[in-house]
Amino acid sequence: MKQIIVGNWKMNGLSADADALVDGLVAELATLTPRADVVVCPPFTQLARLAPKLKQAGIGLGAQDCHKDRSGAHTGDISALMLVDLGVEYVILGHSERRAEHHELDETVREKTVAAMQAGLTPIVCVGENDDQRSAGDSQATVGWQLEGSLPQGFKGIVAYEPIWAIGTGQAASQQDIADMAAFIRAELVRQFGDAGKTIQILYGGSVNARNVTDILPVEHVDGALVGNASLKADAFVPLVRAAR
Ligand code: G3P
Repeated sequence: MKQIIVGNWKMNGLSADADALVDGLVAELATLTPRADVVVCPPFTQLARLAPKLKQAGIGLGAQDCHKDRSGAHTGDISALMLVDLGVEYVILGHSERRAEHHELDETVREKTVAAMQAGLTPIVCVGENDDQRSAGDSQATVGWQLEGSLPQGFKGIVAYEPIWAIGTGQAASQQDIADMAAFIRAELVRQFGDAGKTIQILYGGSVNARNVTDILPVEHVDGALVGNASLKADAFVPLVRAAR
């Protein structure tokens, strides 16, 4: 299975910065063949303007959230169909920042995942334990519950394991921790979805950078990375793509 490197820009990217970043990516990625799949997830405000450029360069376009309904009275929200309408192909759902700041529960994430799948988007569903859960030895139990609650029947998409304690700290999880959790997630996916669970891509996210990526991407059951900070500069992001298989 080809690996996939996904950049999550979070709430970053005014027009000039977004253009510069995408121009840099397009130029540098053009020199890599073959290369892993690459997806960037800018804020909503940049999706429409970046879509044609990214499409032409063979770079996937993702959003960072969607509503569970197709349309209706939901001021300030964006539906999965609206994203498809702009040429978006992926959507990150259940990121820990949304779970924390917008009180999203597993059930919310599951409903959004259903909406994304129905609209034809590939959902990237995030799971991961916080520091307290980890210290209590509950990492796998936490992630197990999140998978069970967040993934709908017939799930078709990508799962991202993002330990909350590693996000934005510069300190990724250890290779062993990632290997243990990726194997656990694979087993859970097979338990939930049978053979289909064997081909669901599992990403690692949390302080992935050019220094640690060569330890992370070779780990069994790791099919790519979900990257925050290091996706905001072409010269930080491209080495991650180069390291992928
Ligand atoms: O979704 C990506 C993410 O939360 C990781 O962020 O900045 O630690 O790479 P970062």
